[in-house]
Amino acid sequence: MVEIYDDVTALARAISAARRRIVGPTVALMGLLYLALLGVVRRATRIQQQKDALEREVAERTRVHRESQAALAEAQRARRDAEEARAAADRASHAKSIFLATMSHEIRTPLNGVIGMTEVLLADPLTETQRKQLQVVHHSALSLLRLLSDLLDFSRLEADAVQLHSAPFSLRGVLDDLLAGMQPRARQRGLALELRIDPDVPEHIAADEARVRQVVGNLLTNALKFTHVGNVTLEVARDPASADRLVFRVRDTGIGIAANHLDRIFRPFEQVDGTNTRRHGGAGLGLSICRRLVELMDGQIGVQSREGQGSTFWFTMRFQPAAALAAAEDADLGQTLDADVLVVKDDAVNEIVAREMLTLMGCAVTVASGGEEALDKLEHRTFDAVLMDLHMAGIDGIETTRRIRARETLTAARRMPIVALTADAFPQTRARCVAAGMDDVLAKPFTFASLHAALQPLLGATAAINRAATATDS
Ligand SMILES: Nc1ncnc2c1ncn2[C@@H]1O[C@H](COP(=O)(O)OP(=O)(O)O)[C@@H](O)[C@H]1O
Ligand SMILES: [Mg+2]
Repeated sequence: MVEIYDDVTALARAISAARRRIVGPTVALMGLLYLALLGVVRRATRIQQQKDALEREVAERTRVHRESQAALAEAQRARRDAEEARAAADRASHAKSIFLATMSHEIRTPLNGVIGMTEVLLADPLTETQRKQLQVVHHSALSLLRLLSDLLDFSRLEADAVQLHSAPFSLRGVLDDLLAGMQPRARQRGLALELRIDPDVPEHIAADEARVRQVVGNLLTNALKFTHVGNVTLEVARDPASADRLVFRVRDTGIGIAANHLDRIFRPFEQVDGTNTRRHGGAGLGLSICRRLVELMDGQIGVQSREGQGSTFWFTMRFQPAAALAAAEDADLGQTLDADVLVVKDDAVNEIVAREMLTLMGCAVTVASGGEEALDKLEHRTFDAVLMDLHMAGIDGIETTRRIRARETLTAARRMPIVALTADAFPQTRARCVAAGMDDVLAKPFTFASLHAALQPLLGATAAINRAATATDS
């Protein structure tokens, strides 16, 4: 019994000791487990929250994207609408301009009849009263004609239907002539009308003479119209800001223009005030025509003015090199050449002169900068003649010519006339040119006449043959 009792006691003790050993760590383990579980739950909650936030963000972005997509489509639609509206407006404006141009042209024809017959009548014996009445008719018809010319010009300029025709002329000659025509009106009004041309302005320039006349004439007419005492002066100088431009200034001591009107007067139908209009006449188109024409001449127009003291209207225009062109004017223009010419050039001035002269002769001009470009162009099309600088960067004129001739031999092509342009006129140079296969050598500076004389005999044959070939090709 006692033994059993002892064993049970020992067992109980052992159990209790074991329990003590187990309980401690178990409690600790459970604590740890609890903490870990808590961490997991927290993390899960956080992840869920992040997921929710992300989903919200995605939804928001999708909404924004849809909205911007819609806005973009809307903007594109609006742009298309605006473009269509603009195209329609352009078409309408073009149609209006064409209509105006046609109508004013149609009206001018009978008006010329009225003016012409009035002049014939005025030459007949008339009573004093009849003469006065007829003079009113004449004067009114002339005003109407001027108005129509302005309208015609204005609408053609609006429709971009005006092209400048550049040709050489004596600037002083044209301006002298213009002023001479206005002197009677100036004298009648007791005004001095003067012309001052700076000495460094070239005597001859190439530009659209009629349009230069028109712009200067409009400015002078205005100056005389709005000046009651003093003088009107036309000054011409080289533009200090641009070597190839001239600047014209028309100064007057007239009524001047208030500062707030200075921009407006260059717009069509704008006049400083109604009283002036009635007193001075005019439709307010002169300056807007001037502005358009000056823009076509690659220049600008402007005014400085003080009310009550006078105005200075100025404009700039581009002009072409003059020395060679002066010669061109004197030369007999000779027969039109009507040829397709390739100019192979080294320097730009030379090219401008050659191009201008060739155009005047009636040629179509293509320009190649250097030998490589020339060979490339010749591979793709034929020309009636080539004008070639000798000294060029890259392959020079002699070498380019050799290659052209070699290619012609290879392809059994027609021999194309090649004229050399060179600053040195030594016999050796000429010999080298001829040896390379050139047909002629032109010394710089060449004149219109010498270029014409060099090309004409060479072209006569080729141009005709080429034209015949093109005709049969097509
Ligand atoms: N030299 C000038 N002095 C004062 N005002 C001028 C002068 N030139 C033009 N203007 C003003 O600019 C306006 C517009 O000129 P313009 O276009 O030539 O039309 P118009 O001569 O038919 O009136 C004139 O009506 C005038 O008010
Ligand atoms: Mg005017």
